[in-house]
Amino acid sequence: MSTEDKYKALEEKHRAAEAGGGEEKIAKIHESGRKTARERIRMLLDPKTFVELDKFVVHRSTDFGMERQKILGDGMVTGYGKIDGRLVYVFAQDFTVFGGSLSRANADKIIKVQDLSIKMGAPLIGLNDSGGARIQEGVESLAGYADIFYRNVQASGVVPQISAILGPCAGGAVYSPALTDFIFMTKKTSYMFVTGPDVIKTVTHEEVTKEDLGGAMAHNSKSGVAHFRADDDEQAMMMIRELLSFLPSNNMEDPPVKPCVDSAHREDERLQQLVPADPNKSYDIKEIITSVVDDHNFFEVQPYYAQNIIIGFGRLNGKPVGFVANQPAMLAGVLDIDASVKAARFVRFCDAFNIPLITLADVPGFLPGTDQEFGGIIRQGAKLIYAYAEATVPKITLITRKAYGGAYCVMSSKHLGGDINYSYPNAEIAVMGPDGAVNILYRNKLNEAEKAKAVFDYREAFCTPYKAAGLGYIDEVIYPRETRLKLIQALEMAENKRENAPPKKHGNIPL
Ligand code: HXC
Repeated sequence: MSTEDKYKALEEKHRAAEAGGGEEKIAKIHESGRKTARERIRMLLDPKTFVELDKFVVHRSTDFGMERQKILGDGMVTGYGKIDGRLVYVFAQDFTVFGGSLSRANADKIIKVQDLSIKMGAPLIGLNDSGGARIQEGVESLAGYADIFYRNVQASGVVPQISAILGPCAGGAVYSPALTDFIFMTKKTSYMFVTGPDVIKTVTHEEVTKEDLGGAMAHNSKSGVAHFRADDDEQAMMMIRELLSFLPSNNMEDPPVKPCVDSAHREDERLQQLVPADPNKSYDIKEIITSVVDDHNFFEVQPYYAQNIIIGFGRLNGKPVGFVANQPAMLAGVLDIDASVKAARFVRFCDAFNIPLITLADVPGFLPGTDQEFGGIIRQGAKLIYAYAEATVPKITLITRKAYGGAYCVMSSKHLGGDINYSYPNAEIAVMGPDGAVNILYRNKLNEAEKAKAVFDYREAFCTPYKAAGLGYIDEVIYPRETRLKLIQALEMAENKRENAPPKKHGNIPL
């Protein structure tokens, strides 16, 4: 073969690999509202930065006539490229080849980029669209999954791991995404379930559609498995790019600083009146967050789940921070099981990746009820205490109104290691609200007038920030309008924070 012919043969191989399962199957993918693996990678990465690995890998299966059905790449596109000029690794399942199912050979392709991402310290993004384990390969495919899970865990807390579910994701295939830090799903084209509708019908006689069981909204609002919902593949890729703009490439780096033209001294007079004087009136805590962050840009995580607590990323003076905020506009901002777990996981993510935490507290306490007690609110609430106490990143807290009972302790209080704890002048920091306190202290001993007076006296004496400020548990009582500056000052002060936990293998978070 001449050199020219060898080049042609190589070109032919590239063409064959890029054709995947062929035009007909690609058209079917497009009809369903999805993009192909390569189109997704193109949308995700900076132009012309993708370097593909293992393009000519084929499966090694010989059962079911598989030796006659080999497609270069074997239904998986893997490699590396850049997002905003920063290195990332990516794998994308190609549904046009055996339904994107996982073979031993293409599992090895994922494993290669997982190992590289850990070694080189750059995020790994998985674009999932797959019928699960390659049925023709049996245990070899299962072994591939387990090898991937193992590396997901090794990579956890070392590099950010991001999963997008862009088609079906069934069976054990859901567990690799579940082990990663963030899951994106697309509206109407993505599904995740351990067992699908047919199996459920056989075993429990429940009838449920694919969408209701494992669609984007099911996992964004009900199960809390997913963190983001996108309208389509393209939006999902753009959202992944935005998320990464807040994250360091690995746990040894600081998050990327963005040049900031928004003045640190910018005040917002609106905040002076935002929190209603009446403690029973609600307001939207997101108004405070969007008011104070650079350019009013807040990237909310899990916006549809446990909406009584808000989590997400923003920047203060160019530097990424993670916000955790009780939401008075939803269930009065009460802490329940879902809110505690949602916030705890986020706190641990931020701590793992050197992202300072800003906590905004306005919380009436933990949600009472048998559902909560039997669901383990004791154990679940403890997760949030554990996460805050364990976190060694700068922790800045602002009590905007209520901080009652255990919830005061939990929400990044001084006692859990808060570095700077602020409050607004109208904060109420006490064991419980005035009505509850008077009921317990005096039971049925007071008439209505006496009771009203006792409630008034309690409110005057206890429902202020000044008892806590007098003890040094609140460092400064601030004017709401200067919240942005105060948060930035505290962050600058804590920038070189050094805090080490006692040596241990790992703690035992109450899972
Ligand atoms: C091999 C598969 C496959 C699989 C789909 N295909 N899933 N090939 N192994 N797991 C092939 C189909 O044969 C078909 O090939 C092509 O992919 C497209 O599939 P369709 O069924 O035509 O597509 P669609 O109608 O869109 O349905 C997609 C689907 C369905 C919902 C994913 O294919 C499906 O239910 N597949 C099986 C899902 C499943 O039960 N997987 C195992 C889960 S258990 P042709 O040649 O006709 O185009 C598991 C264990 C992991 O994953 C354990 C880890 C711990």
